[in-house]
Amino acid sequence: MLHIGKNQDELIKAMADFVVLRAAEAIAEQGKFSIVLSGGSSPKKLHELLASDRYRNKVDWTRVFFFFGDERYVPADHPDSNYLMAKKTLFDPLNISQEHVFRMDTSLPPAEAASAYEKTIIRYFGGRSLSFDLIILGLGDDAHTASLFPGTSVLSETKVGVNALYIEKVKMDRITLTAPLINLAKNIAFLVFGESKAVAVNQVFRGDRNIHLYPAQLINPSNGTLHWFMDTAAAAAVLL
Ligand code: 6PG
Repeated sequence: MLHIGKNQDELIKAMADFVVLRAAEAIAEQGKFSIVLSGGSSPKKLHELLASDRYRNKVDWTRVFFFFGDERYVPADHPDSNYLMAKKTLFDPLNISQEHVFRMDTSLPPAEAASAYEKTIIRYFGGRSLSFDLIILGLGDDAHTASLFPGTSVLSETKVGVNALYIEKVKMDRITLTAPLINLAKNIAFLVFGESKAVAVNQVFRGDRNIHLYPAQLINPSNGTLHWFMDTAAAAAVLL
């Protein structure tokens, strides 16, 4: 489902309203809400809006459990850390208890960090399907999402889990949920805005089916819903 905003502010508000709805739904049904955050810079404004006076009281944050779709292999206090960005823009302003935040432990070697995170997710779901209530994803200008980058081995991973791999393009190790794990989610929402993403959006929507070139094409929830929150700049080609 496409949600197109005339500009970033309209888009971010639409996405915040969507998060509020999904949280209310999950908390009503199961008493809690599991959300997987995206890294990068796009989610910052969404986090800030959710933590603002306008939105903070729309969700019972004490029932929300936070996970990450991927992480750069840097210390948790490194400026590139996705965890640090979320801590500053969401967890601290909302006084989220650390017991409700599950970050990838980059103090471990990459492979161990990935397997430890996999165990954390399995433990959270207590033997039931690893189906997150909502996974938020970004889109790189090369059509990557999470840390599923073009031309990497993780794109062929069939395991429902978490992988660590060195990404030549960004010259760093990354830890990422695999596409099969992402696709178990009840709801998946991409948040993509800005002209720089228009080509990647077009490739994902209109390009040949080629997950090695356009990894975001891997994202197709098996039973859940798929939403694209985009501004008109990013969605230009698909609106023609
Ligand atoms: C990361 C993200 C990555 C991000 C895209 C878009 O760790 O960088 O998970 O997949 O969502 O690269 O990043 P921007 O929002 O900064 O454009």
